Amino acid sequence: MSTSFKRSLVTAALPYANGPVHIGHLAGCYLPADIYVRYLRGIGHDVKFICGSDEHGVPITIKAKKEGITPQQVVDKYHKMMGDSFKEFGISFDIYSRTSSKTHHQTASDFFKTLYDKKVFTEQITEQYFDETAQQFLADRYITGQCPKCGNENAYGDQCEKCGSSLNATDLINPKSTLSGNKPVLKQTKNWFLPLDKLQGKIKDYIEAHSNWKTNVYGQCKSWLDSGDGLQPRAMTRDLDWGVKVPVEGADGKVLYVWFDAPIGYISATKELLPNNWEDYWKSKDSRLIHFIGKDNIVFHCIIFPAMLMEHGEFVLADNVPANEFLNLEGDKISTSRNWAVWLHEYLIDFKNQQDVLRYTLCSNAPETKDNDFTWKDFQTKNNSELVAIFGNFVNRTVVLTHKYYQGKVPPAEKYSKEDLLVLEELAKFPQKISSSIEQFKFREAIQELMNLARLGNKYLAETEPWKLIKTDEERVKTILNIALQITTNLAILSEPFLPFTSAKLFSILNCKQINWLSAKQTNNLPAGHVIGKEELLFNKIEDDQIQGQLDKLDESKSANALNIQLTAAKPEITFDEFTKMDIRVGTILEAERVPKTDKLLKLKIDTGIDVRTVVSGIAAFYKPEDIIGQQISILVNLAPRNIKGIESRGMILMAENAKGELSFVSPTKQEESHNGSTIK
Ligand code: 2FM
Ligand code: ZN
Repeated sequence: MSTSFKRSLVTAALPYANGPVHIGHLAGCYLPADIYVRYLRGIGHDVKFICGSDEHGVPITIKAKKEGITPQQVVDKYHKMMGDSFKEFGISFDIYSRTSSKTHHQTASDFFKTLYDKKVFTEQITEQYFDETAQQFLADRYITGQCPKCGNENAYGDQCEKCGSSLNATDLINPKSTLSGNKPVLKQTKNWFLPLDKLQGKIKDYIEAHSNWKTNVYGQCKSWLDSGDGLQPRAMTRDLDWGVKVPVEGADGKVLYVWFDAPIGYISATKELLPNNWEDYWKSKDSRLIHFIGKDNIVFHCIIFPAMLMEHGEFVLADNVPANEFLNLEGDKISTSRNWAVWLHEYLIDFKNQQDVLRYTLCSNAPETKDNDFTWKDFQTKNNSELVAIFGNFVNRTVVLTHKYYQGKVPPAEKYSKEDLLVLEELAKFPQKISSSIEQFKFREAIQELMNLARLGNKYLAETEPWKLIKTDEERVKTILNIALQITTNLAILSEPFLPFTSAKLFSILNCKQINWLSAKQTNNLPAGHVIGKEELLFNKIEDDQIQGQLDKLDESKSANALNIQLTAAKPEITFDEFTKMDIRVGTILEAERVPKTDKLLKLKIDTGIDVRTVVSGIAAFYKPEDIIGQQISILVNLAPRNIKGIESRGMILMAENAKGELSFVSPTKQEESHNGSTIK
C-alpha cells in the first residue's frame, strides 16, 4: 500500500432511513467497504470506518406520508433496524451515526454558514415547481418526469437514476407531482446555489488528477465535465420543513438540500467517534479519504461534495471513490416499492448463522464493473460446490485426520519432499496476491484467490493421500498434515476480511488466537505440538427446499405486483359539482348480440328505468351474449352519444378490471332493493 498516507478514513454511503437494508445495498457498497477496512486493520493500518443513517430529504417524508406516521418515527424505526442488521451481518463500522443527531445539525449548519460567509453561494430567486393541491414546493423526489438527457420517464427532480445525471426539477419533461399526480405550477422562491459552473475548472483538475479511479467512476465524471453545457449551478437549499434549517436570515421554511447535509454526515460521525482527534482524519494531508458508494451516488461524491470541501478550504478531498454498479435479483431490478429484494433482516432469520454464505456469494458476484445478477440457485451452488465442497471439505479432512492420527496434536514436519516445497512456495504467495487485488478494489478477484488457496489444500491432500500412506509411511504423513494445518491456519488469517465468522470459527477450531494478516507470509504459523480444538463443520449444505422457499417468496411479490401494475396514479382532482354532473343509474340488459366483424364488441339493449336504449360495450371477450340477459348493471346515462361501428351508442356500462385485465359488471348487490333507473351516487 502507498506509504505516503499515515491513516485512512473509509466512508460507506449513508443509507436513507426509509426502509430495510437489501442485498443491492450490501453488494454495491457496504460489503466491499467492510472487506477493505478489515484488510487495512489486518495489516495494521490506522483506519476508521464511518457510516450512519441519512435521515433527511424527501425519501423520508414520502415514506412517513405513506405509513401515516411522522418523519421522526420513520427514521427512528429504520435507523435501528438498519444498524442492527449491518452489525449482525458483520459490517464492522467504527460508528453508525445518524444525520438527525445534534452534532450533525450543528456541523452541517456551520459548514453552510462558512460557505455563506465566504460568499460562495449565489442567492437567486427562481421559479420552482409548486403543487397547488398539496400547497407545497416540489423538490427532488416529490417530482418526477422525463429525463432530458436519456428519456427515462421516471427521473426525479434532482437526479435521473438511469443515466446518473444530476438534474434541476425544471429540466424535467412532463413533470408530475408525486404528491397529487397533478401537473405542478411554477412559483417564485429564493434559494442558495453552489455555482458549479464557476468551479468547473477546479473540479476538472481534481478529477483529472485521479485518472486511476475505476473506469466506471472516472468515465462518468469526465462525461459530465466534458458534456456540452458543462456543470450547472445547483440549489443547496429547499423549501421543505424536514431537514437542517438554513442558518441565515430570510430563510424561514427552508432546509439544506439533503445532498448538501448528508455527506457532511461523514464529518459529523467522525467527530462523534473521535471528539478529540477527528481533524487528523479530515484535515491532514497524510490522511486518505475513501468513499464507498453505489453508482447512483457518483455525481454527489465526485463533484458536488468535493466542490463544497474545496470552497470550505479546510478539508482533504477524496483520494478514491470506488463505486460499484447495481445488483439485480433474478434478472429484475431490485425495488423496494415492488418488494423485489432479498432483505437482510429476513435473510438473517431464514439463514441463521450463515452470514458468510451471503458475503461470499455477493463478493464473488459483485457488480464491480457492470450490473450483475443475484440468483438463489447461484447462491446455493456457491455454498454447496465451493464453500462446503472445497473450503469446508479441506478443513474438515485436515482436522479429522489430525485428531485420528495424532490426538489433535500438530505433527512436526521433518523432511519436505519436492512436492511439499512447491506447495509451501505457493502458499507463501497468497497474501501478496490477495492484498494486491484488495488494494485495487478488485474484491471478486481477491475472494477467488482465497478459494484458490483452499483448492491448493484440497489438491495437496488428494494427491498425497495421507489416509492411504498412514499404513506404509507414517513419518511422511506427519509432514503432510503439518503442511495441511499450515494451509488451514493461513486460510483462517486470509479469510478474515471476507468471511469474518468463518475465520473466527476456524481460529477456534485451531484453538488459537486470531493471527495478524502479515503473518500469512509465513508458512509455519501453527507450531508442532500445539493441540487443536474439536472438529466442527464450517459450512452446511443448503437444500433445494430452502431455495424453493425463497423463490416462492419472490413469486408472492410478483403476484402482488401484477395486481399493482394495473393501478395508475389518481387522475387530476375534480370538484363535487363536476362529479354530480355524471348521471349513473341502475339498468338491466334486455338483449345482447355480437357486433358483426368485431371480436370485442357487444350491442346491448338496456332498460335504464328512464328509457330503453342501445349501448355498444367492449366486453365480448368476457361475456357470452346469452349469459347476460337480465343482468343488472350500472350505466352512465348522460354520456354524449357516440357512433361505434355504425351503431349509435348511448351511455357507458361501468366495469371493474381485475389483475389479468378481465372486465366484470359493477352491479348493485342488494338486487331486490335496486330498481332500474335508481341513481348511483
Ligand atoms: O442514495 C442514498 O441512499 C443516499 N442516502 C446516500 C447518501 S451518501 C452520503 F452522502 F451521505
Ligand atoms: Zn437520464
